Amino acid sequence: MTSAASTFSLPFATTPSASAKADAERESILADPGFGKHFTDHMVTIRWSEDAGWHDAAVHPYGPLQLDPSASVLHYAQEIFEGLKVYRHADGSVWSFRPTANAARMQRSARRMALPELPTEAFVESIRRLVETDERWVPSADETSLYLRPFMIATEGFLGVRAAHEVAFHVIASPAGAYFTSGPKPVSIWLSTQYSRAGKGGTGAAKTGGNYASSLLPQQEAYEHGCQQVMFLDSEEGKYLEELGGMNVVLVRSDGTLVTPDSDSILEGITRDSILQLAEDRGLRVEKRRVSLDEWRDGVASGAITEAFACGTAAVVTPIGELRGDGFTITSPDAGSDSLTMSLRRELTDIQYGRLSDPHDWMVQLTPAS
Ligand SMILES: Cc1ncc(COP(=O)(O)O)c(C=O)c1O
Repeated sequence: MTSAASTFSLPFATTPSASAKADAERESILADPGFGKHFTDHMVTIRWSEDAGWHDAAVHPYGPLQLDPSASVLHYAQEIFEGLKVYRHADGSVWSFRPTANAARMQRSARRMALPELPTEAFVESIRRLVETDERWVPSADETSLYLRPFMIATEGFLGVRAAHEVAFHVIASPAGAYFTSGPKPVSIWLSTQYSRAGKGGTGAAKTGGNYASSLLPQQEAYEHGCQQVMFLDSEEGKYLEELGGMNVVLVRSDGTLVTPDSDSILEGITRDSILQLAEDRGLRVEKRRVSLDEWRDGVASGAITEAFACGTAAVVTPIGELRGDGFTITSPDAGSDSLTMSLRRELTDIQYGRLSDPHDWMVQLTPAS
């Protein structure tokens, strides 16, 4: 475990909120925060312009943004975002999980979307400042966390179609309850055959809003079929697994090998990378390669594939109970508490909540023990 070093030289101004929630109101929100419904008292802003680079870093009261109606983000969707959680440990200290991996992914997204790259130190320092300021918003009940949403938008007011010369980076924070109140429940997934999430050479590997906007209609289709998530296949042949609307997918073979799609049009999940690392630490084989729908269907039928799970920051690891599409269902065997899926989930959450040692130095301390 390491402490976030403060090497970012941009000075941060702090303006305390004059309308911060009273203790009683905050405590009542933290008792049942849900997900993405409530926001802390403050937020971070750092501005960028072509002339001045990154400047005006500030922690200030949470509130609406002022945008010129011609700002390019509103017309051409030039924006990127990240999602990561911070966790309260038993001694009261608050830690984030692999924030430098989120910073690096945001830099990759920025390159693809012609946005400026925010230095890793600035990203981590933003998080540290916001969490220090709103430390009392980090819940402490089991499986709860403070979800952080860094995002970058093109703010220049100009209707020409070119990369904006003015940009803003913000971080907002939202307390998150336990995703599953009585342990993870297997999800049903709808296979979208009519729609693709991303195409060859497109923006699938970037965490950018347009990918999510285009997934909303197929996601609605999933709900209509009684499924919670939508699965996308490759856009060229419609044969190979890509990912879900907001999570990566992993199949488990009967010998313990983990198989997961490799594609340049999926988002490289930090949860998936961490789970695969923990599996390798156990001496298990990990295969990142093209995985066809037929391989999944035939593997389940023959017993060669014994578990399937989805993974991402929000729900960590979720067993996939079934994959349904037009005229077919692939039912996964039940991932009980002694399954590899659940044991990897436990190991990862134990590291995140400080119950287990952190062999890869993934945790970064943000505030001291209380
Ligand atoms: C499309 C998509 N794939 C995968 C993931 C999982 O990524 P991570 O594990 O970094 O949360 C996410 C979640 O952010 C996502 O939105």
